[in-house]
Amino acid sequence: MAAGYVEYEGIRVPGEGYHTLESLTFATKEFQVRDDDVFNVTFPKSGTTWMQEILSLIYSNGDPTTIKTEFSWDRVPWIEQHRGRSDLEHRPSPRLITTHLPRYLIPPSFNNTKAKVIYTIRNPKDVCVSLYHFSLMASFLEKHEEFQDFIPLFLSNKILFGSWFDHVKGWLTMKDQPNFLLLSYDNMVKDLRGNVVKICKFLGKELDDAAIDSVVEHSSFQAMKDNVMSNYSVVPNEIFDKARGSFIRKGVSGDHKNYFTPAQEEEFDRIYNESMKDVDLSTLI
Ligand code: A3P
Repeated sequence: MAAGYVEYEGIRVPGEGYHTLESLTFATKEFQVRDDDVFNVTFPKSGTTWMQEILSLIYSNGDPTTIKTEFSWDRVPWIEQHRGRSDLEHRPSPRLITTHLPRYLIPPSFNNTKAKVIYTIRNPKDVCVSLYHFSLMASFLEKHEEFQDFIPLFLSNKILFGSWFDHVKGWLTMKDQPNFLLLSYDNMVKDLRGNVVKICKFLGKELDDAAIDSVVEHSSFQAMKDNVMSNYSVVPNEIFDKARGSFIRKGVSGDHKNYFTPAQEEEFDRIYNESMKDVDLSTLI
């Protein structure tokens, strides 16, 4: 295993300055959630950065100045990362917050608020492919050069932030609550505008058609690939080896078809069906 993970209350996350015991304790126990907080929640590689861009644009009424001048991780910071406390504790409302934490690690103060959660899911086979590529370029992740060797890691609970299955099932316990919006990366690829309208409605943000058009234009795959404030190209090569790939990589739904053999897909589906037997995500992923 690559060095540098932190084990915390049932999950494994990258250490090496990203997460510390202190930052995880702050995020999961001390952070004071406010009624008007908006959480961008994902399992890694499910569209986190995309939602950071969309939320930034919605809250600037479609004006792209902020997304072109501030880094995505400053605009919509992670609570659990090492800068979570300093980035978020005294930030004026409404705060836009990112997290990969499983539901059971969300701080107790969340339960007494009307804070909104947007949970974006993605086809787990595509998440697996995306994370495989990301692990090859990111210095802090366990690597398997062969995709076939990465699949068992993905299916285990030793992957980042616990197993994909537990993450999704944990957050879906909120699915009938009015402060929870379930979206899918795969549907966003098909109909970005429709999803932006849905997000605005959920957040009570009234944007006119021109502002919505601007959100859609500036959060397109190509626009984000070109935006140095969101494409992670400024991260030093020792951390993200750009010779091995790009963070904003391919941006499609169904890329797993290019990686899984029929037998691997059958086995993955078998595990999926067993783990998710009480959950119907067929219209989403
Ligand atoms: P791929 O590796 O499949 O291309 P996260 O931000 O959660 O780490 O997710 C990263 C994934 O989202 C990558 O998937 C990346 O290319 C994709 N992505 C980022 N911005 C996107 C956009 N505007 N449209 C579609 N996909 C996007």
